[in-house]
Order: sequence, then structure tokens, then C-alpha cells
Amino acid sequence: MSDPGPEGVQPVDHPLAALTVDEVSAAVAAVRADGRLTTEARFASISLEDPPKDEVRSFVPGGPVRRRIRLVIVPGPGLGVIEAVVTLPGGEVTSWEEVEGVRPALLFEDSMYAIGALKDHPDWQAAMRRRGITDFDLVQIDPWPAGSFGSPHEEGRRISRCISFLREHPFDNGYARPVEGVIGFVDMGRRQVLEVVDHGVVPLPPEPGNYRAEDTGPPRPDLRPLEITQPEGPSFVVDGNLIRWQHWSLRVTMDPAEGLVLHTVGYEDGGRVRPVLHRASISEMVVPYGDPGPVHGWKNAFDAGEWGLGRMTTSLALGCDCLGVIHYLDAVFATEQGHPYTVEHAVCLHEEDYGILWKHVDMATGRSEVRRSRRLVVSFIATVGNYDYGYFWYFYLDGTIQLEVKLTGIMSTQAVPPGETPRFAPLVAPQLAAPVHQHLFNVRLDVEVDGPDNAVEEVEAVPLDPGPDNPWGNAFEAVATLLTSEAGAQRTTDPARSRHWRVVNRAVPNRLGRPVAYKLVPGPTPVLLASAGSSIAARAGFATRNLWVTPFDPAERRAAGEYPNQHPGGDGLPRWTAADRPLVDRDIVLWYTFGITHLPRPEDWPVMPVEYAGFHLVPVGFFDRNPALDVPATTAGHCHSD
Ligand code: NI
Repeated sequence: MSDPGPEGVQPVDHPLAALTVDEVSAAVAAVRADGRLTTEARFASISLEDPPKDEVRSFVPGGPVRRRIRLVIVPGPGLGVIEAVVTLPGGEVTSWEEVEGVRPALLFEDSMYAIGALKDHPDWQAAMRRRGITDFDLVQIDPWPAGSFGSPHEEGRRISRCISFLREHPFDNGYARPVEGVIGFVDMGRRQVLEVVDHGVVPLPPEPGNYRAEDTGPPRPDLRPLEITQPEGPSFVVDGNLIRWQHWSLRVTMDPAEGLVLHTVGYEDGGRVRPVLHRASISEMVVPYGDPGPVHGWKNAFDAGEWGLGRMTTSLALGCDCLGVIHYLDAVFATEQGHPYTVEHAVCLHEEDYGILWKHVDMATGRSEVRRSRRLVVSFIATVGNYDYGYFWYFYLDGTIQLEVKLTGIMSTQAVPPGETPRFAPLVAPQLAAPVHQHLFNVRLDVEVDGPDNAVEEVEAVPLDPGPDNPWGNAFEAVATLLTSEAGAQRTTDPARSRHWRVVNRAVPNRLGRPVAYKLVPGPTPVLLASAGSSIAARAGFATRNLWVTPFDPAERRAAGEYPNQHPGGDGLPRWTAADRPLVDRDIVLWYTFGITHLPRPEDWPVMPVEYAGFHLVPVGFFDRNPALDVPATTAGHCHSD
């Protein structure tokens, strides 16, 4: 069967419908028919480009849908990509731009090649033999993004730094046995091993680090079943990629780099849908490591821009992570050869009970009113090498939205000589350490609070000095400062002052005469700890601040720029915001950096219990009162005691 022509594309029913297999095939056929690609061209990503906002807003159900499919093409072994856009249903190549000097995310095909080439290389083999390793089939090689450190290997090449681990059998946890000291530099495009550096032999750590049920001994015997039953089914309704639940409505798509993307998040109130977010996604994330030694000092990874959270999405059919009635959504991506494929069960939808929503016992009458909280969960999981990241968006009955990232999986490790306690890498098992590191996520929030034109205020609780206005010395007040332009809208958290950021629509007053608003409430979070002059600080400039605000520009999509792989730095938010554009009463985007600083513990080994990071979006005068008064009381039959 030949590729279906554009006329064979099954039309979608909405500008924000999920990308389809037909659309990928048609877009690839269109760029191939163009004749400018050679057989060695590869597709770094094929994704749905956001439709212009006016197309979304003016769309009438049943009307024609124009789709723009964005293809990032790697034309050959060197630097540079082609950014092409194919418009459907016509199949025209409407944009073809050659971007010089950049490197796309690492390609899987090249990574597989790098692993094979290194295993065949005499220098790598000699390094293994120096460590007593002779069965090379047992060695796991992880290609890492190389960073940008001015090494001659980096120049003009797409390279990776490859590190090795020993597995005693196929299901063994290789991270228990890092082959310390050996780094292979591989030119991914030209498929050449450039150099194998051996920093010296460190003995393999003595213990395995396995965690499967068959490895960990008998399970604890006294955990009794906990069943979630929803006899009438869930309370959400799914129509294509449109989700409706308890006044909320939103669409979801999957992007190769960002993973889950939320679109047109709104809340139905008084008979109309009031918009809150036009679009929300993880725009970038970075994991910088804090060990300065020659073997580990270069380590950092931009898991969105250098690998792709969507490309790394794991099918939830591989292991159900949720309780209750689950609805899954599939996701369509493309291989590097341009063939569509579907990740089944990529996105999970379910509801969770979340304890008390509100309660009061009237002391005079003894009457109690209590309502239970519940949340709609929209989630996916990306496994990037050793780590697993669960991205969980929660929607609550009281108008709150939350993003929670669940960090789990296996830490990056290093072998340590017997008796040594490394300064920058806590021991997690005998002769095994994990370097200190950070996980810093940047979420791009294209806000639309009751309309496209918004502004951001920074709000702090500020104590007053004692004086005539403050005779008891108890006074404090909420002080709001309008963030008027980009230079002044680069902020960090300050929990001692309850600092947060309020997105206001100054044209829409609530019944108390104040602008309707949603506030971004930070969780505990660091910023980047690396020095200001470091390579990683230049490359991950977004992570040096918690909050950035920009005027909306459809070309500004990723916090560290489109192509962070081996990029020397300065792209993305620091570059865009240098213009110091005005921000008040216009279409604006919030970029919020959050995460954790991970100081590894023995309890994080061999597989890490989930650690959490995230933030909340909470209505502030968006509603006239508690919007969850109409939640029905739970019947008493649901509580039991023995
Ligand atoms: Ni970590």
C-alpha cells in the first residue's frame, strides 16, 4: 500500500483535535513529494502546530478545519535542521526553513548506533577488560546529551557522551554497577567513535540493586484490598479529546517534546464557559548535577528539548497506576523514518477522592455540614533513561487547578572506592553513590482569565512598622505590585512573605468590584544552584528564576529555546525578555520554573519512592463565593467502623 495522498486524510472535527495517523502520513508524503529530501533525512519530530487563537475562538462545530503539521527534519549527518509546515487537508508545504548550526533532540536511531559502535571499538573494549569485564553483551550503555563545554569533539558535530553499566542478566539493574571512569564520545550524525576516555579503574560496587517482586523476598502479608468502586461510572464525559467534568472543560493533545498539552481550559459558570487557560504544558525541564569531578561534572539533561517528554511517553497498558474507573487516550507520534505510530493508553483520566472539601459543625445546634473533595486527574508518564516522571494535572470542585510532578525511577549513580565518602555524592549503598542534582521544570501557562487580555500582580503579605497606624504592632497587609514589563517580571519565590502571582483581568470586575483573578501559588521550590558564569546557567537561563512573564508570541514555545542540545546558551526566555516588552492588559504567558533539589538518600535506592513537585492555580475573586456549595453531601453509608 502506498502512502495515502492528502485526499485520503480523514478530516478532524476541531482545530485542537489530536494528531492522527492519517495526518502524519499525509504530511510526510507532502515533504517527500517536494523532492528536496535525500534518503538519509530523518524526522526528529512531527507534531501538530497550534492553530491561531482566532481560528480556535471563531470555530463553529461542523465547519472546515485547517491543520498545520510541523516537521523538524534532520537532513544529514552534520548540524542544522529543516523546519517544514504542511497544511492539511490540502497537503501544501506552506513553510520550509533551513535552520543552520542547531542540533535537534537526540535521535533514537543514532543512539542505538552509538551503543553498537562503542561496543565494537577497541579502546572501549580495552577499558572494559581493565575492569575484568569480558562479556560485552552484559554492558548497558547510556548515551547522554553532551552539553556545551568547548571540547573540540563538540564542534560541528552532534555528539553524545556514553557511559556504561554492568548487568549480570537482562533484567538486572545496571545502575547498581556503574563502570566508573569510562566516557565514550560518539559523533551521532557521522556515526564515529571520537574518543574513549578512561579516568581510572574503580571497583564495581558489590551489591545488586534489583527491585522486582521476584528479587525482593516475600511481600508483607497484611496489606488488605482497598477497592475503589464507581457503580454508576465516572462523572466525566469524553468526546474525542474534549473532556468535561463538573463545570470544567478542556482538550488534551500530546506533543513529542512537551508531552501532555492542555488546551482551552474553562469553567462553566452562569450558562457560559469562562476561560482560564488557553494552553498549558511543560515547556522544558533540566536536570543539572552538582559533582564537579571530571567523570560527572559535565552531566546535565534537558529532558524535553534533548529527548522529548512525549517521545518518552510510556503506555499505561504496561502497568496500571490508577485506581477506579479509568479512561485512556492514545497518542500518535512519528518514527524518525516518518511512519506514524500510536502509543496506546498514553494519557490516563480518572477521578480521585481527596478528603474533605469543606466542613463545619455548628456549636450551638450540633449540626454538621461536610462535603467531600474530588479531583479529575489527567496524567501521563515519561521514562527518560533512569528516571520516570509522572505529570498529573488535577481539577478540583472549587475551581482550583494543580500540576503535580511525581519523580520516581532510578537515580544516576557512580561507583566509589571502598572506604571513601564522596563530598558531592551521598552514598546510597556500599561503594555506590548518587551525585547531588536538581530537577527543574518550566511550565508554560498561556493564561486567558475571563478573556485574552490579562495582567500579573505580585502579591506579598507585608508587616507594618509599629506607629500610629499600627498601635498593637500586629498589622500586616497584602501588597500587590503590577508587573508592567518583562524586565521586572523575572521573580523568585519568597515563602516568608507568602509571595504569589495573581493573573487579573482588569476589564472584568466581580460583584465586589475587583478584577477577576487566578493566582499561581508556588510550592517549595529552588532555582538553579549552578554558578552564574557556568555553562549550564547560560543554557538553562529559565531555571535561574521561578517566574517569567512574556507577551504572547506563537514562536516562543520552549523556555530554553527550540534546540537546547549542545546549545552554548542564552536562548529562550533570557533572549526574548531582553526586549523588555510591556505586559499589562494584553495576551500574556507565564513561565513558571519549579522543582526539587535532590540530595540522594539510602531510601531512594534501588528505586526511588515518589517525590513531588508542583504548584496550584487558585481562583481569587473569579467566583462570587465558594463555588462548591452545591456539592451534594455524601451519604452516611460510606463510613464504616468496626
Ligand atoms: Ni533526582
